[in-house]
Amino acid sequence: SRDTDKTKTLLNNFKRILSLIFVFFLIHLKDKIQDFANFFNKVIDCHDGFLSILFCVSSDLREIVFIIQSQSNTFHVRQAERQKADLLKQAHSLVEEPPVVLLLHTLSHNEGDWSILPLLPHLSQSFGKNSSWIVFLEEETDVKMNTLAGVLATFDRNKEWFLGKHLHDEDSTIIHHYAFAENPSIFKYPDFSAGWALSIPLVVRLGNKVKQEPLKSDFTIDLKHEVALYIWDNGKGPNLTAVPELCTEPKDSPQALLCATTLSNHPTQCGKPVNKDDIFVAVKTCKKFHTERVPVIKKTWEKEALYLEYYSDYADPSIPTINLGVPNTERGHCGKTFAILQRFLSSAVPDTKWLVIVDDDTLINLPRLRALLGCYDPSEPVCLGERYGYGLSQGGYSYITGGGGMVFSREAVLQLLDSGCKCYSNDAPDDMVLGMCLNALNLPVTHSPLFHQARPEDYSKDFLAHQVPISFHKHWNIDPVAVFNKWLKEDFRSNASDGLNKRTKTEL
Ligand SMILES: *[C@@H]1O[C@H](CO)[C@@H](O)[C@H](O)[C@H]1NC(C)=O
Ligand SMILES: *[C@@H]1O[C@H](CO)[C@@H](O)[C@H](O)[C@H]1NC(C)=O
Ligand SMILES: *[C@@H]1O[C@H](CO)[C@@H](O)[C@H](O)[C@H]1NC(C)=O
Repeated sequence: SRDTDKTKTLLNNFKRILSLIFVFFLIHLKDKIQDFANFFNKVIDCHDGFLSILFCVSSDLREIVFIIQSQSNTFHVRQAERQKADLLKQAHSLVEEPPVVLLLHTLSHNEGDWSILPLLPHLSQSFGKNSSWIVFLEEETDVKMNTLAGVLATFDRNKEWFLGKHLHDEDSTIIHHYAFAENPSIFKYPDFSAGWALSIPLVVRLGNKVKQEPLKSDFTIDLKHEVALYIWDNGKGPNLTAVPELCTEPKDSPQALLCATTLSNHPTQCGKPVNKDDIFVAVKTCKKFHTERVPVIKKTWEKEALYLEYYSDYADPSIPTINLGVPNTERGHCGKTFAILQRFLSSAVPDTKWLVIVDDDTLINLPRLRALLGCYDPSEPVCLGERYGYGLSQGGYSYITGGGGMVFSREAVLQLLDSGCKCYSNDAPDDMVLGMCLNALNLPVTHSPLFHQARPEDYSKDFLAHQVPISFHKHWNIDPVAVFNKWLKEDFRSNASDGLNKRTKTEL
């Protein structure tokens, strides 16, 4: 029996050693494979071989140009630079020569660059000869570079490709000019958050096309849809090819295991939410909506505002509304909005850092807005909201579309009024006139996809699924209180850090 004991101990020791070896092997497996791949890369020049997916992805990195869809506001510049540094760091661990990483807002002085199409001739000229892919990333898009290079390597780089994560409309929608009304879901456009890519042959052809026939579009409303339409070109160009590895799952989530792109969950660099008394809210209304729309605001979000005034063409003390002495106009509220800007700077209202101008049919979550504003410096001229463009390819301008809410720092309001900017008529579209003025002042319009000019059903479900929205607009064919309760009611104050992280995830 002593002998069997001895054998048992021996066996146990043997098992222990085996499992130690196994664990050691597991820990080092990853590094070993990487070392082997690096070794393999050096030994053979496997540029295009059939093993390229396994071993040669890193050598393909130089052929990818990354463009971060950055913005010129200081907060966004910081985010984009951090993202660029991360991309270069990853590349550095894989290859000696890093890929090109560009920040969109630095590529030229053309205000319309954010609409991307005007940039195509430039991209074609710079990279048409020495690259294979242009990969576009939003500030929030996190990239696993090796995986992404591996995925791109599975596509023939000599063909035209438009790659991304599919979005589609469930119903035809105003923000897409009711396109494909007979079957809205047939047309696919990319979710920019997941990143998207164009092969160089496509960039070169589109670059030539843009040079030969100037872009026609007057309004830029939902860029991702408009870019897809331009590329598709009524069936003459390629469709968006879905790439399952381009994802909008949060980084580090189990579902993101096979993803090449994810949504970043960097700890927020924003400060605390701004205080309630930092915000002044101006609601534009008129007599006919006092009983129809104002009660909705009172029932939903009014209580979150410390300072709020309703501006109307008629003073009704029961609300109360203030008559600014500007006659009501059917469309465009330029006169009213400029009177609001002047009043904001006057001693008639509390001195706050931020001015928020909304319509009487805007639904907005002010606690989420306060968290977002913690990212921005109110001493800078900040103009924030959902960015639209007008005539961007012909020297036009960007503007914050009014219905989703327009947010201004005090400094922005000061500069706007100092510039002598004014309405050409009381019923001019206020948001567009402000955009023209900002453009003349060279002040940037800062875009946040969390503001919405339309109703939740006007946006793709999958697009809304990964964001925590701040606003929606319009009561048409919906129950606005129910919409507010579904999309905008949840108040993150009870779970502040959670809410901030979630919100930041979509905003970065
Ligand atoms: C391709 O050319 C551009 C200049 O036209 C340069 O900036 C870029 O680094 C080049 N890329 C590669 C991979 O050589
Ligand atoms: C591209 O998409 C359209 C619908 O938008 C569809 O009718 C067409 O068959 C698709 N073409 C290809 C080549 O997949
Ligand atoms: C707050 O966040 C924690 C962690 O994310 C979560 O478990 C909890 O359910 C949240 N509480 C509320 C009230 O949402």
